[in-house]
Amino acid sequence: MKLLVINGPNINFLGIREKEIYGTQTYDSLLEYIRNICGKENIDVSFFQSNHEGAIVDAIQDAYGKTDAIVINPAAYTHTSVAILDALKAVSIPAVEVHLSDVSAREEFRRLSYVSLACLKTVKGKGFEGYRDAILFLKEYLREK
Ligand code: DQA
Repeated sequence: MKLLVINGPNINFLGIREKEIYGTQTYDSLLEYIRNICGKENIDVSFFQSNHEGAIVDAIQDAYGKTDAIVINPAAYTHTSVAILDALKAVSIPAVEVHLSDVSAREEFRRLSYVSLACLKTVKGKGFEGYRDAILFLKEYLREK
């Protein structure tokens, strides 16, 4: 199974940004956490992070025909981006949306997710573990397909 993990704006600042919300662990430690899980699960994982909406759209398009599944934390673009929603719909790659924080318990504007309309599932408020849930869900989903 080939998996692409996409993280949006400011996720590269984990460990620096709003630690009371996102914790003290860094983006690099997130990648290590995911690599570890994928190693155990025999999943071939690659990563993409960008602070730019169009770059994320390009990464999703590039995944077409090369990736079996996508885990995406679109960060702030979750709540604004029809372009990322459309890109996920365009490639039709099974995708799960992840949020480190519980977006439903924060500001009103974080309750809306365009991206969720193209995702099989949303995992929120579980920190790094949310990525694990998403990966295992996608592995099982592909196995059953
Ligand atoms: C986030 C939640 C978003 O609302 C926010 O803009 C982020 C991170 C999360 O992982 O909890 O940057 O996606």
